[in-house]
Amino acid sequence: MKMKSYQILFILLWAELHFHEGVAMTMKQKKMEDTPQDVEDDADEPTPSPFSEDEIDELLDWHNYARGTVTPTASNMEYLNWDPYLQNIAQQWAEECKWMHGQPSDVTIQYGQNLFAGSALSSATPKGIVKRWVDENLFYNHTTNNCRKGKVCGHYTQVVWSTTTGLGCGRALCPNLEGAGKNMYMVVCQYSPAGNVVGHSPYVSGPSCTKCRSGIGQCYENLCRSCEEHDEICECRQMCQNCGTVDMETCRCNCPTGYRGTDCSETCKDFHPYCGQNPGFPKQSCRFHPMIPRLCPLTCGLCVLPNEEQSCQETTTIAATIAELKTTETTEETVQGISEIFVRQDEVQDSNYLEHNEALGHNEPIENV
Ligand SMILES: *[C@@H]1O[C@H](CO)[C@@H](O)[C@H](O)[C@H]1NC(C)=O
Repeated sequence: MKMKSYQILFILLWAELHFHEGVAMTMKQKKMEDTPQDVEDDADEPTPSPFSEDEIDELLDWHNYARGTVTPTASNMEYLNWDPYLQNIAQQWAEECKWMHGQPSDVTIQYGQNLFAGSALSSATPKGIVKRWVDENLFYNHTTNNCRKGKVCGHYTQVVWSTTTGLGCGRALCPNLEGAGKNMYMVVCQYSPAGNVVGHSPYVSGPSCTKCRSGIGQCYENLCRSCEEHDEICECRQMCQNCGTVDMETCRCNCPTGYRGTDCSETCKDFHPYCGQNPGFPKQSCRFHPMIPRLCPLTCGLCVLPNEEQSCQETTTIAATIAELKTTETTEETVQGISEIFVRQDEVQDSNYLEHNEALGHNEPIENV
């Protein structure tokens, strides 16, 4: 645990630009009665091109598919939900037609943001966009939390940032995308809470849904998601270490004395070197400030160490389906379609899309502090 005020939040912002050749652009029809001045004004107006309901579903599915299939597997990956507020501010920023990171001026919270620009609508599709971002995983090493030198991984790490729960994206056709070119589609995706916090890894590796933030191991396609929120397959994947047991009603761990954490893998400890020291935070100081017990739970007696006598050899593993799927053809098809696109690399690389695109405007790779 770290004190919030000492945390240095650094939002890495990423940009990528792709050109697509040989596709006719949709231009505003010039009207005969327009004066030259009118034409000029018209030509600089962005055309809102918001994502359709179907495209929103696809954007979500692609993001969640990428999140549920990370390597190594993630123990704490949250399911992403669509957030209309984020969609709204993303759409507003896309319509600014500036090839740079930013948010409407009245938005004070710093959200995560991925950008994409393409000269053809066929490249600015949910599939095209998310795949470009997720493909950066080739350069990312989860063990070291490093991106290969000279490469960009920040789009990918934001897509699979475990604690991000909200997504909203917007799209506009910009007659003049400032800093990029003419007649470009500008795509903006906003993420809440923001990921890419420097020095932090996108997720904690381990068996899926064993370290969900809620402490509840209810799992949907390897993502932490409450069974109450949906009618699809929902499993309890909670696993408890140190002889803890899963309460199948709640899908939480009951930890033996001395163990804590969502999966009983943690023991009682202080988080500051001055805990129990004098000068420092001696036991008597626990009631002076509410921050002290949070820094020094062991010293302040909020938890106890495991009993040396009680030995525990086994690791309890319980997994059970607690909600049955209402299987529909549609679900199967969606999943199938997504796997194909991600798995069949050869097919994707043969398409015109990648051949005719070129990346520009890269930012620095993720920093490891
Ligand atoms: C990640 O980096 C570690 C340490 O350098 C290395 O041992 C490991 O093979 C790397 N993993 C991948 C997938 O490249």
